[in-house]
Amino acid sequence: MPRMTATDTVRAELARAAGRPGGLAVLTGAGMSAESGIPTFRDAMSGLWSRFDPAQLASEEGFRANPARVWQWYAERRQGVLDAQPNAGHRALADFQQRHPGVMTLITQNVDDLHQRAGQPEVVRLHGDILAVQWLDEGACRKRPRCDPAEAAPGRPPRCVHCGNLARPGVVWFGEMLSVGALERAQRLADECDTMLVVGTSGAVWPAAGLVGRARRGGAQVVIVNPEESEIDAQAHLVLRGTAARVLPGLLAGV
Ligand SMILES: NC(=O)c1ccc[n+]([C@@H]2O[C@H](COP(=O)([O-])OP(=O)(O)OC[C@H]3O[C@@H](n4cnc5c(N)ncnc54)[C@H](O)[C@@H]3O)[C@@H](O)[C@H]2O)c1
Repeated sequence: MPRMTATDTVRAELARAAGRPGGLAVLTGAGMSAESGIPTFRDAMSGLWSRFDPAQLASEEGFRANPARVWQWYAERRQGVLDAQPNAGHRALADFQQRHPGVMTLITQNVDDLHQRAGQPEVVRLHGDILAVQWLDEGACRKRPRCDPAEAAPGRPPRCVHCGNLARPGVVWFGEMLSVGALERAQRLADECDTMLVVGTSGAVWPAAGLVGRARRGGAQVVIVNPEESEIDAQAHLVLRGTAARVLPGLLAGV
């Protein structure tokens, strides 16, 4: 009899998880969108931006210290998201969801909207939305920011014309709390799934990384897809070394 490959084992696991609503939880990170041309955090800090540490660009403190610099960095990343298209990995996940409604729940650390554009109906977004804006000082003014990225002059975050409050990107910065609703929902999904598929995350950012341990403690099979080692490899039952766009279509096709 031919030996089962790691991929066969995961496919059998996915077929089992597909038998139950909420059976499959998928956790994605920046690597999921790398083949769509959106740099991972590490890559986004390269080139022009390599002399800044992430806390200077992705923190409230850094924004208050230099709003123009931080706004410009996000404006570039936002344009990158608008120019990008979902890759074969995003599409494979969305197709699986459409074949098995209610089975799969998708939790992402990504601030892009590529899962949604691939057709994923519902996504738990732990770290916000880079295309959204919110006021820096909540409650300072009742007007909502209506910031069209096209209107934002390079290097100048829009200000409220009434109170001078600055608009900031609608993402979770270092040192900020995640939305309690999104985190609790993700934790419940991790606790209750039969299989957790973890794609393109370094496992270095908390509390998102803690979802993997929760799934494992809850009895789920944990499968990682990543071309490189990650900090959570030891928690996985199986690690598939490859990229999202290469591995996911074959893994999910026909399951
Ligand atoms: N696309 C986005 O929305 C985006 C991009 C950059 C950073 N971020 C934010 O930065 C934080 C960083 O944490 P993180 O763990 O998500 O990312 P990370 O940058 O820390 O790690 C990326 C991981 O993806 C892997 N990877 C690289 N290319 C891949 C590919 N083609 N397929 C599969 N895996 C691949 C890398 O080996 C690495 O382990 C997140 O909180 C996220 O909010 C988001």
